[in-house]
Amino acid sequence: MLNQLTLLTLLGSMVYALPSIQEIKRDSGTYANCRTFYSDIYAETTQNSDLKSVIGGPPPNQQVLVESSIQQFAAGSMVMNQIMNATKIQVSGSYSLWFEYCEPKSGNSTGLFQTHHGLVGNAGYWNVQLDNSPNNSFAESAAQAGWSTLSYDRLGVGRSAKPDGTNIVQIPFEIAQSVSIAKSIRSGNLSDIGKFDKIIGVGHSYGSNLLAGLVSISPSSFDALILTGFTNNATQGPLGLFSFQSTIANVAYPSRFSTDLNDYVITPNMYVDQTGFFHYPNYTNTSLSTFTNTKGEYTLGQQNSISAALQLKNNYTSPVFVVTGEFDAPYCAANCYITSLTSSSNSTGNSNSNSTSSSMNKPSQLDTAKEVFPSSTNFQTYVVPDTAHGINYHTTAYDAYSKIIQFVKNANI
Ligand SMILES: *[C@@H]1O[C@H](CO)[C@@H](O)[C@H](O)[C@H]1NC(C)=O
Ligand SMILES: *[C@@H]1O[C@H](CO)[C@@H](O)[C@H](O)[C@H]1NC(C)=O
Ligand SMILES: *[C@@H]1O[C@H](CO)[C@@H](O)[C@H](O)[C@H]1NC(C)=O
Ligand SMILES: *[C@@H]1O[C@H](CO)[C@@H](O)[C@H](O)[C@H]1NC(C)=O
Ligand SMILES: *[C@@H]1O[C@H](CO)[C@@H](O)[C@H](O)[C@H]1NC(C)=O
Ligand SMILES: *[C@@H]1O[C@H](CO)[C@@H](O)[C@H](O)[C@H]1NC(C)=O
Ligand SMILES: *[C@@H]1O[C@H](CO)[C@@H](O)[C@H](O)[C@H]1NC(C)=O
Ligand SMILES: *[C@@H]1O[C@H](CO)[C@@H](O)[C@H](O)[C@H]1NC(C)=O
Ligand SMILES: *[C@@H]1O[C@H](CO)[C@@H](O)[C@H](O)[C@H]1NC(C)=O
Ligand SMILES: *[C@@H]1O[C@H](CO)[C@@H](O)[C@H](O)[C@H]1NC(C)=O
Repeated sequence: MLNQLTLLTLLGSMVYALPSIQEIKRDSGTYANCRTFYSDIYAETTQNSDLKSVIGGPPPNQQVLVESSIQQFAAGSMVMNQIMNATKIQVSGSYSLWFEYCEPKSGNSTGLFQTHHGLVGNAGYWNVQLDNSPNNSFAESAAQAGWSTLSYDRLGVGRSAKPDGTNIVQIPFEIAQSVSIAKSIRSGNLSDIGKFDKIIGVGHSYGSNLLAGLVSISPSSFDALILTGFTNNATQGPLGLFSFQSTIANVAYPSRFSTDLNDYVITPNMYVDQTGFFHYPNYTNTSLSTFTNTKGEYTLGQQNSISAALQLKNNYTSPVFVVTGEFDAPYCAANCYITSLTSSSNSTGNSNSNSTSSSMNKPSQLDTAKEVFPSSTNFQTYVVPDTAHGINYHTTAYDAYSKIIQFVKNANI
C-alpha cells in the first residue's frame, strides 16, 4: 500500500491557483474500479483545544510519554478534566489529503459512502485485501451493491499532511475537513470523481465519533450515518485506549515513520493490535499480520480530543445504523451484551435470511448510541457475532457489510 507512493507521477506543470490533484494509481478489483489522488482541503474551526497548555508539546522521548500516560490514567488524575477545560483555539488552513475512490465496474453509482477510519487505521481499512478474496473489502461490497466509496487517510495519517500533531490534528478540525469534503462532492469539484447528491457518512471508531460530532454542526452533509466500532460507552478501563500503549511512531517503527515528530504515535506490536482489534480465532493469521504491517499512526491531539465530539448535542433526524463487534474491546470492554439497559433500541435482525436468533433483540451497549441521536427517526443496531473492534479484518466482515447494504436499501436513502 505504501508502495503506491513510489508510483506517484508528479504533474509536470501545476497551475499554482489550482488545488494539487495528482492521480497516482488505477486499480481493478472484482466489483470495483479504484483510483487514488491527492487533494488540498480547506477547513476552519474555532473548537480545537489548546492541548499544549495541558500536555505540553511533543514528548522528548518514549519514557516521558509513558510517564505522562500513567499520570493521565492515574487514580485521582485531573488531566482529563483539564483537557476538557482547555482554552478553545481557532485553526484554519488548506492541507493535502490522500484519497482512494472506488466505483462499481458496471452501471452508474446509486450514491457514495464517504468513509472515516479509526486510530491505528488508514484509508486501507475500507479496502482490505486478504487471501485473494474481495470479501474483506467494504469498497468491493459497496460496489457489488452499486455504490461508490471515497476513503482518505485522515489528517496526520499515512500519505496525508502531518501538521502540528497536538494543537492542529484534533477531532474538531477533522470534522470541519469532512464537512468540506462532502460539500465539494455535492458540488462536483473533488478531483474527477463527479457529483453525488446521496452521500452516506461511514465511520469506524474515532471516525464514528467524528461523524457523531459532525452532525451537530452540519446535519445536511450526510443523508445517513453508518457508525461501526462504536457505542456511547467507551471504556476507561484496561481494555480502553490505555491498552493501545501509544508509542512514539518513529521509535516503534523507525523505518516507516522516521519523519514523524514525537507527538505522532502508534501501537507498538502485533499482540497489542490483537488486544485492541481482534477476536480469536475468527480471523486469519494473514489478517492480523496485514493489519500490523499496514496500520497507521495517530496523534496525541487526536487521542486526547476523541471524546470531545460526543459532548455536542444534535438534532439529526436521518437514519443511523450502529454496527459493532460483540467483543469490541475499547467500546464495550470486550462484551457488548453486558449492559444496564433493559430494552433494545432497535436491533436489526438478518433481513435476508429471516433469522430468529434470540440475540437479535437482546439489549446491548450499542443501544447507548441512541442517546447521541435522540431525533433520528430510523436508529438501528447490529452486533456482529464473534467479532472484536477491527470488524473489517474478521471472517465476519462480509456479513457485516451485507447488513449495512440491507439497512441502506431498507432506509430508502
Ligand atoms: C476549569 O476552568 C474553570 C474556570 O477557569 C476553573 O475554575 C476550574 O478549576 C477548571 N477545572 C479544572 C479541572 O482545571
Ligand atoms: C449513467 O448516467 C448517465 C448520465 O446521467 C446516463 O447517460 C447513462 O444512461 C446512465 N447509465 C446507466 C447504465 O444507467
Ligand atoms: C465471499 O463471501 C460470499 C458470501 O458468503 C461467498 O459466497 C463467496 O464464496 C466468498 N468469496 C470468497 C472468494 O471467499
Ligand atoms: C470546490 O469549490 C468550492 C467553491 O469554490 C471551494 O470552496 C472548495 O475548496 C472546492 N473544493 C476543492 C476540493 O477544491
Ligand atoms: C495462527 O497460527 C498459529 C500457528 O500456526 C496458530 O496456532 C493460530 O491458531 C493461528 N491463528 C489463527 C487466528 O488462525
Ligand atoms: C468463530 O470461530 C469459531 C471457531 O472456529 C466458529 O465455530 C464460529 O462459527 C465462528 N463464528 C462466526 C460468526 O463465524
Ligand atoms: C435542536 O432543536 C431544538 C428545538 O428545535 C433547538 O432548541 C436546539 O437548539 C437544537 N439543537 C441543535 C444542536 O441544533
Ligand atoms: C457500560 O459498560 C460497562 C462495562 O464497561 C457496563 O458494565 C455498563 O453496563 C455499560 N453501560 C451501559 C449503559 O450499557
Ligand atoms: C424502534 O423503531 C420503531 C419504528 O421505527 C419506533 O416506533 C420505536 O420507538 C423504536 N424503539 C426504540 C426503543 O427506539
Ligand atoms: C420468514 O420465514 C417465514 C416462515 O418460514 C416465512 O413465511 C417468511 O416469508 C420469511 N420471511 C422472509 C423475509 O424471508
